[in-house]
Amino acid sequence: EMPLLEQCYNLLDFEGVAKRVMKKTAWGYYSSAADDEITLRENQNAFQRIWFRPKVLVNVEKVDFTTTMLGTKVDIPFYVTATALGKLGHVEGEVVLTRASAKHNVIQMIPTLASCSFDEIMDAADTDQVQWLQLYVNKDRAITKKIVEHAEKRGCKGLFITVDAPQLGRREKDMRLKFTDEGSNVQKGSGEKTDNSQGAARAISSFIDPGLSWDDIPWFKSITKMPIVLKGVQRVEDVLRAVEVGCAGVVLSNHGGRQLDFARSGIEVLAETMPVLKKMGLDKKIEVYIDGGVRRATDIIKALCLGAKGVGIGRPFLYAMSAYGQDGVERAMQLLKDEMEMNMRLIGATRIDELNEGMVDVRGVFNH
Ligand code: FNR
Repeated sequence: EMPLLEQCYNLLDFEGVAKRVMKKTAWGYYSSAADDEITLRENQNAFQRIWFRPKVLVNVEKVDFTTTMLGTKVDIPFYVTATALGKLGHVEGEVVLTRASAKHNVIQMIPTLASCSFDEIMDAADTDQVQWLQLYVNKDRAITKKIVEHAEKRGCKGLFITVDAPQLGRREKDMRLKFTDEGSNVQKGSGEKTDNSQGAARAISSFIDPGLSWDDIPWFKSITKMPIVLKGVQRVEDVLRAVEVGCAGVVLSNHGGRQLDFARSGIEVLAETMPVLKKMGLDKKIEVYIDGGVRRATDIIKALCLGAKGVGIGRPFLYAMSAYGQDGVERAMQLLKDEMEMNMRLIGATRIDELNEGMVDVRGVFNH
């Protein structure tokens, strides 16, 4: 018996339901991560090494957790991050996430490897709804240029270049299930054919350019006015370099544990990064986001206390969509809003700009 939607009380509950109801191959693709999945588990574990230092006797009758991300006002400091192959989980694919995002005034990052076409996803959005584009850079730069220019013309408000995937990681759970049902708009280099024997991820990713480097960033700046954000940065040195080359932001992320196993969690890298940026007076020069393992509003609050502008959430929305469609995604977002209101009160903050590093105890974060 499938639980009623009302019986999902938090984001982790959706995962349990999705595991039971999803097709095995789809579950394998969504849930899998690289190698021994150490980083996958670390993403959630790292949040558990951070504790709160709440303020008491703050008047928290009214709590406002709206904020801005790359200049867009949003209801709550998370966005729906890019995840490929939405139709593995739901017949309608990514547009389900688009519609739920509109209802909750949150931003959706559209994946290069969406099951729906880019235009279908843009067309599913409300007129004033803001979306970003996640970009895998093609070896054929003419294809990439066309994608970027088209996205800008259609009104995309941010370009997130994925920099942690010069080659797709080995997700063995996914590989064992031998991908057959593509459901995607596969981009190919000229004359290449898709190899389905290695799981979904590898089947669709052969066009990605492992030669992408810092030298390419000026070219991206020359072809678009969209703010450029590097998704998948994992060390403070690279954050500083991103500032230098004029990026608007970085996402401290390990791709949900799907790329380099033993990459550190985004929240740990954030704790390393922000003090350095502050010391150099650069913390207002770049917006820092994290993703990976965010499942509770307390995780969001921890990231914001440490200086993140917002967080990305991936799998929980895929699971909610796969199990319950748009209603599921909307409920997941509402649960986060409810948790956010309560936990802002309990930590003693009425607005996002009141969250600061003094409200968290990070002594354990690097010791594990
Ligand atoms: C991803 N992610 C991802 N990232 C990206 O830049 N391009 C992509 O195509 C995908 N595809 C993708 C598929 C699936 C099934 C997952 C789970 C993830 C990574 C994603 O954007 C994000 O970094 C992580 O999902 C964040 O971790 P959580 O929230 O899933 O724990």
